[in-house]
Amino acid sequence: MEIKLEPAKFSEVDADALVVIGFEGVEGAPPEAAPGDPAKELYQSGEFSGKALEISILHRPAGLKAKRLVLAGGGKREKFDAAALRKLTGGLLRALKAKGVRSIALALDEAWRSDDFVAAAVEGAILADVENDRYKTDPKKNEKAVERFAVLGGSQAAVDRGRILAEAQNFSRDLANEPANVMTPTLLAERAQQMSAEFGLECEVLDQDRMRQLGMGALLGVAQGSAEPPALIVIRYKPASVPASLDHLGLVGKGVTFDTGGISIKPAEGMEKMRYDMSGGAAVLGAMRAIAQLKPPIPVTALVPAVENMPGSKAQRPGDIVKSLSGKTVEVLNTDAEGRLILVDALTYAQRLGCTHLVDAATLTGAIVVALGNVNVGAFTNNEEFLQKFLAASKAEGEKTWQMPMDEEYKELLKSTFADLHNIGGRSGGSITAAWFIRDFVAETPWIHLDIAGTAWLDDAKPYMAKGPTGVGLRTFVRLAENW
Ligand code: BES
Ligand code: MN
Ligand code: ZN
Repeated sequence: MEIKLEPAKFSEVDADALVVIGFEGVEGAPPEAAPGDPAKELYQSGEFSGKALEISILHRPAGLKAKRLVLAGGGKREKFDAAALRKLTGGLLRALKAKGVRSIALALDEAWRSDDFVAAAVEGAILADVENDRYKTDPKKNEKAVERFAVLGGSQAAVDRGRILAEAQNFSRDLANEPANVMTPTLLAERAQQMSAEFGLECEVLDQDRMRQLGMGALLGVAQGSAEPPALIVIRYKPASVPASLDHLGLVGKGVTFDTGGISIKPAEGMEKMRYDMSGGAAVLGAMRAIAQLKPPIPVTALVPAVENMPGSKAQRPGDIVKSLSGKTVEVLNTDAEGRLILVDALTYAQRLGCTHLVDAATLTGAIVVALGNVNVGAFTNNEEFLQKFLAASKAEGEKTWQMPMDEEYKELLKSTFADLHNIGGRSGGSITAAWFIRDFVAETPWIHLDIAGTAWLDDAKPYMAKGPTGVGLRTFVRLAENW
């Protein structure tokens, strides 16, 4: 889909659909509409009320070159923000595509032409264009396609930023959507290398032998049950100019290409979704794709520990004790708590590579889904100031994030009789004890842990997004680096 800034006047825009946004409870015609407003009647008759994502279509509007004039509902005007616009253009794209529309132009009123709004408009359209139908063999599936999406008003830089972010997010969603028989740790590493070569990033993949030499016993213990070899993906971005500080951001993403639970095997029902268990890793890889193009002022290193968690004859058993890269020993009481095991070795390695600030993203616990549902990402930290920066970035990007508590009392639940700590904390506070497990390894390095188990996957399609991976986290990572 071609994305462009439309230079033509409203009446001169050549498109299958020219869109204006109308709001709820606005008297008369929406202020954005054309002079001699052909949409006025639609609006005044009550046929169009302006409710969020509502769409009314007028064919062959008088005085306009465009084939259709589309009124799109923006909801309540005072609540309209960049996140609402992102959803609106997404909803538009999916609705108009289904009707066979091939080119869309969106007219933005003065009030919505700031960079954040314009980027969000572009993002919404690109994100909505994904169908996750690669494995469908119907030859007609691509007959309906939007070839061009244009925005009237705003800056080229904002259009480009939105395109870069959303394309990166779709790259990440596509990785997460691949079935686990395709998306093995080896293929994930290959995709990371391809992407790095394409965008001028340095990429290194540590194989099993190298990880053994280094002593990554926690990661290797998870990997040993699978015939698929593990990989630790490391991608480096360095800004062109010398950074103002020694700060170095490390992004670490859980890359479990399939999580059966291992010997502590999961129930059959719903297990197919566990191919999304590398969504954190995919978000981190996608973030690097955008970072390479948007060039933030701080060095960023991405690390993705990639493994498959299987119950093979060589699989680790409950009660096994492994030695992590940090030197700490872990009693593995439940082999299904594997994400934290691979993350701690990757985080320790990130520290050794010089990262001064760490963010990890992981589909880590079912408990976070119980706590926050499918709306908010759960955020944990050992450094309030760092988290406040992060939350500001997540807010600006419309990626809802909620801080979870990290009182010392929760840590008690990880005490092991036979090793330094064990890998589960029991039923209650499951997402918090998981976070404490990780925190024990990062120690004093400013760190944020994101539990994206509830937000990385859409169980049902939304009007603005297909069912499947969401790519959550990516835009916030990029903005965090940009705002450094
Ligand atoms: N990948 C899962 C997290 C998960 C579970 C996501 C259910 C979505 C739905 C993770 O590896 C896991 O299995 N976590 C366990 C931890 C438990 C054994 C302490 C969980 O949450 O049940
Ligand atoms: Mn698991
Ligand atoms: Zn998992």
